Amino acid sequence: MAEIDWTALKSAATEMTRRSYAPYSQYRVGAAAVTTDGRVVTGCNVENESYGLTLCAECGLISQLQASGGGRLAGFVCVNADGEAITPCGRCRQLLMEHGGPDLLVYSPAGIVTMREMLPQAWGLPKEDAQ
Ligand code: THU
Repeated sequence: MAEIDWTALKSAATEMTRRSYAPYSQYRVGAAAVTTDGRVVTGCNVENESYGLTLCAECGLISQLQASGGGRLAGFVCVNADGEAITPCGRCRQLLMEHGGPDLLVYSPAGIVTMREMLPQAWGLPKEDAQ
């Protein structure tokens, strides 16, 4: 797996914020990830008048991952409309863990961290991986 091009990923994620549908919160989120076989997948948040039905940007990204052939995520970033890295919500951390595993690299506001650090003691992981 080649080195992750974080600049390109952040740019793809920022582009996705422009496609976001966020009329209720006005908070646009874009997400981008690279797979272990080098594909880039993206997503944006899609809100709903029934607020609880809102789809986070990560939901769209995981859907695109599967729709484009599946595989495993190697690097992930989500950003706000200003292109600043933000952290995935708790639910989406579990989604990312499922499709990237504990070694998935996440570009966070605190720098590049692993999914293991982002979601310690994750549900469904073998005990030794969850630490
Ligand atoms: N949001 C995401 O898209 N991803 C996250 O990880 C956190 C929150 C969206 C949902 C909602 O449309 C907006 O951000 C404000 O909560």
